[in-house]
Amino acid sequence: MQTPAVQLIGVSKRVGRKTIVDRLSFDIRPGEVFGFLGPNGAGKTTTIRMMVGLIAMSEGDVLFGGISVKDDFRAAIAQVGAIVENPEMYKSLTGYQNLRQYARMAGDVTKARIDEVVRQVDLAGRIHDKVRTYSLGMRQRLGLAQALLHKPKALILDEPTNGLDPAGIRDIRLLLRRLAAEDGIAVVVSSHLLAEMELMCDRFAIIQEGRLKAIHATRGGDGDGDETASGAGRQLPQGTALLLRVEPLEAAQACLAAEFPAIAVRELEGGELRVEAGHDKAPAIVSALAGRELRIFKVQPVAKSLEDTFIELTEEGGDRDAHRFASVRQAVR
Ligand SMILES: Nc1ncnc2c1ncn2[C@@H]1O[C@H](COP(=O)(O)OP(=O)(O)O)[C@@H](O)[C@H]1O
Ligand SMILES: [Mg+2]
Repeated sequence: MQTPAVQLIGVSKRVGRKTIVDRLSFDIRPGEVFGFLGPNGAGKTTTIRMMVGLIAMSEGDVLFGGISVKDDFRAAIAQVGAIVENPEMYKSLTGYQNLRQYARMAGDVTKARIDEVVRQVDLAGRIHDKVRTYSLGMRQRLGLAQALLHKPKALILDEPTNGLDPAGIRDIRLLLRRLAAEDGIAVVVSSHLLAEMELMCDRFAIIQEGRLKAIHATRGGDGDGDETASGAGRQLPQGTALLLRVEPLEAAQACLAAEFPAIAVRELEGGELRVEAGHDKAPAIVSALAGRELRIFKVQPVAKSLEDTFIELTEEGGDRDAHRFASVRQAVR
């Protein structure tokens, strides 16, 4: 099997008594865009800061191309390009001058390489303009160029589309997908937006309160069992639900609550009921309702959306603090 580009092995961060990141373990493959998805405060930035050595891990290890940051930090981190905080840039210099400056520090970067990354991030037309005239999206792409100069095998970006307009977000998304597909770079991005992760990533890890809740494959993941092998989370289950229209509504709710206490039932706008049960439960539900002489107008099985599943996952364990997930919900509406 191909060596994973990035491996997290039981990565944890404790500050005082608080566990901010709790034993995260998963592998990221060369050529995939991999996301960290979680609400604000989930521990995404802390994880990324540990991965790139900005802060120490309390426990665990991170391997890049099979090399442990604990055994050989220099060799491991040499394979990584990252944007964690705002990239350092001299606004009174041109984009090109910034890259040249950075190349001198990185050493071993040719002029041809600078030109190559400028083309890759689509800045050729503006690279000799001063950075202060750049849009936020252009600055972000210049930061990417900087991170790419030394030909990293893994690129790690904390919330790379934060603050960008829709066109800027699409540019970054296409660029990252291209870098993964064409250059085989493992691209790691974080976001609190489900819709964005679905569009951008091949797979993403759902992280909540520092813990891995699930790994979801968006692009027909090959299901080769990597995750279980490295002890990571389960695949995201995508179940089904039933939509019912039954009259009278209150009597139907009472009947379902009495006969199927374990099944969640929600009233939707327009007086329909959404029953969180699989298709196989439909006959039992219908006969229970019919047995009470309720009038059944509709029974429709529906696939649960990823959003439904995501919200259920991040709310399980009694945390139903709705406002914390408001951003996720808004993003997909
Ligand atoms: N140095 C620190 N000391 C104490 N708590 C911290 C520190 N850094 C981050 N936290 C807390 O850890 C949690 C995770 O933060 P963070 O990694 O920034 O989350 P995210 O990037 O997913 O929004 C938050 O509750 C945050 O307040
Ligand atoms: Mg963050």
